[in-house]
Amino acid sequence: MKIITTPAEMQCRSDAIRRAGKRIAFVPTMGFLHEGHLSLMREGRRRAEVVVASIFVNPTQFGPNEDFGRYPRAFERDCALMQEVPVDIVFAPAPEAMYPAGAQTWVEVAEITKGLCGAHRPGHFRGVTTVVAKLFNIVKPHYAIFGEKDFQQLRAIQRMVKDLNFDLEIVPMPTVRESDGLALSSRNAYLSAAERERALSLSRALEAARREFAAGARDPRALVRAACAVLSATPEIRLEYIEAVDSESLASIARVERPVVVAIATHVGKTRLIDNAVFTPPPPG
Ligand code: PAF
Repeated sequence: MKIITTPAEMQCRSDAIRRAGKRIAFVPTMGFLHEGHLSLMREGRRRAEVVVASIFVNPTQFGPNEDFGRYPRAFERDCALMQEVPVDIVFAPAPEAMYPAGAQTWVEVAEITKGLCGAHRPGHFRGVTTVVAKLFNIVKPHYAIFGEKDFQQLRAIQRMVKDLNFDLEIVPMPTVRESDGLALSSRNAYLSAAERERALSLSRALEAARREFAAGARDPRALVRAACAVLSATPEIRLEYIEAVDSESLASIARVERPVVVAIATHVGKTRLIDNAVFTPPPPG
C-alpha cells in the first residue's frame, strides 16, 4: 500500500493508472476508520482495479466551536485496517498542501445545504464540497463511494457532481450499524458507556418512524411525532433537529408520495450524532 502526501504526486499517479486503462475507486475519509468506511473500500475493490482512500481531517468543514482539534486520529491503525481490504493508495496530505496560503476559492451547493445540518453548522457543507471537489481533481476517480449515514452530505455531493460536470459516478452505500442499531461513526469514540446507551435512542426513534410508516402514515408530521415519542424518553440527550423531508431535494413535504428521509441530529453529552432512515411508498395501484 503506497502512501502519498502531495497533490502533485497523487495526480501523477492517477494519470499513470488511467493511461494504463485501469479504473480508480475512491473513498474520501477523515480517518479513525470503522467498519462503515471499510465497507465503502470493499465496494471500491469490487468496482475498480485500483482503490484509493484519503485520510484528511478537513479544517474548513469544522466551525470555530466544533471538534476539529480533538477529532480522533489514528493513522497507523487506519493503515493496518486499509491494508486488509486491501487499499492500494492512501492519500494523506497535510493541511498546508490542501489549502496553500492565498487559497480563496469555494464550492458551494446552494439549496440542498440550507436545512437540516446546514442550518445548524454554518459553513460546514461549503467546507465539505470544496475539499471533495479538490480531492476529485487530485485523485481523478471513476467511482467515489460515500455512506448514506451523512445523507445531506451525499445529496450535496451528488448535486455538485451534476452541476459541475465531474466525470465520475457517485456510489451511495447503506449505513453500517452495530448489532443493537447504533450507526457507526468515528465520533462514537467520544461516548461513555452511559452516553452510548442514550445514543441508541436515535436508531430506536427511526424504527418507531418506520413502524408508523409501515402502518400507513403518510403525513411527515406523524413520522416525526412517532420518533419524538422515543427520543423524549431519553431526556439527557439534546435534540438539535428531527425532520421528514423529500429524500432527493431535502425540501419540506406536505405528504409522503415519494421516498422520504427522516433525519435526526442530537447532542449526547458533548458529542453530536446524526442518523437517518429512508422510507419508500409502494407504487400506487
Ligand atoms: O464524511 C467525511 O468523512 C468527510 O465529510 C469527507 C467526505 C471525507 C470530506 O472531508
